[in-house]
Amino acid sequence: MELDIWTEKYRPKGFDEVLGQDDIVKRIRAFVEKKNMPHLLFSGPAGTGKTSLALVICRELFGESWHGNLLELNASDERGIDVVRTRVKDFARTHALDSKVPFKVIYLDESDALTRDAQHALRRTIEDNARTCRFILSCNYSSKIIDPIQSRCAVFRFRPVETSVMLTIARNVAEKEGLELSGGAADALVAVAEGDARRLHNLLQSCAVVSRTITERLVYELASMARPQEIDTVLELALKGDFTAARKLLLDTMLSYGFSGLDAIKQIQQQALSLKSLDDRGRLRLIEHCGEAEFRLSEGADEFVQLEALLAFVALLRK
Ligand SMILES: Nc1ncnc2c1ncn2[C@@H]1O[C@H](COP(=O)(O)OP(=O)(O)O)[C@@H](O)[C@H]1O
Ligand SMILES: [Mg+2]
Repeated sequence: MELDIWTEKYRPKGFDEVLGQDDIVKRIRAFVEKKNMPHLLFSGPAGTGKTSLALVICRELFGESWHGNLLELNASDERGIDVVRTRVKDFARTHALDSKVPFKVIYLDESDALTRDAQHALRRTIEDNARTCRFILSCNYSSKIIDPIQSRCAVFRFRPVETSVMLTIARNVAEKEGLELSGGAADALVAVAEGDARRLHNLLQSCAVVSRTITERLVYELASMARPQEIDTVLELALKGDFTAARKLLLDTMLSYGFSGLDAIKQIQQQALSLKSLDDRGRLRLIEHCGEAEFRLSEGADEFVQLEALLAFVALLRK
């Protein structure tokens, strides 16, 4: 039984393994070759290579001794900026270990979890230690980072990993792990992961525990999502006026995949745009109603009542 976690096993070890972020990698390489770099701010969604690239930078800068020259912190774990400051201070006190690089690196994950006040304190910490340390800050939204920090960093915006790159990652892992991706499975993995390579690895690993042959159905089952065609069928039934059958199929699908009313509404909303038997106006009205149902659920409404109401609305869209 393998206990290794694939997101770690397949974490990029060098610049050319950080896929689909070519412009970013190119600019970062240039800094690293000169053994000189500014503070960096990495922003973008989860699973796009921010942490991986920071680790690659340290491997490339420091070689063997990269562990000792890197301090990894997580802003949301560290119970406030004071802990961050103390740890940075202790780390910055000593010089870079056996290295030709005149600084050490501090990687601060989830920087946007810090309050504005904490960020101002962080800015001072960055300045106080700039002689000996370079900061790499990572965040989901750069708009949540105060200007005085942004202006002291080179900012890099990571994009969700492109479909073609996600397919490459899925096929590569499947090959290395001896898995067979049967028809539609690779596309399903990529659709479910939505540009998040960590999610892709995790999903693939959970599938592999169940079977060496990975099917589209298995992917959706483990992701607790219906196959898009099944949602289409539900909607088509409602549009044909067969409300009872639509309702039954939706409930059966929810039970067999184990997803919630909220997930169902999100999936209906995703399928609405491509629904063939509706005209543009109908699709837009359906999307609008999904928004309302989603809001009501988030306010605590009953999910079955809301789903039935949504299906009834679909049935009424029938021309
Ligand atoms: N651009 C990428 N190229 C290749 N693998 C990636 C990429 N981004 C993420 N991954 C995979 O996902 C895992 C998590 O990535 P990570 O760098 O921690 O994401 P982030 O810090 O942006 O949330 C990595 O270990 C790697 O397996
Ligand atoms: Mg990360």
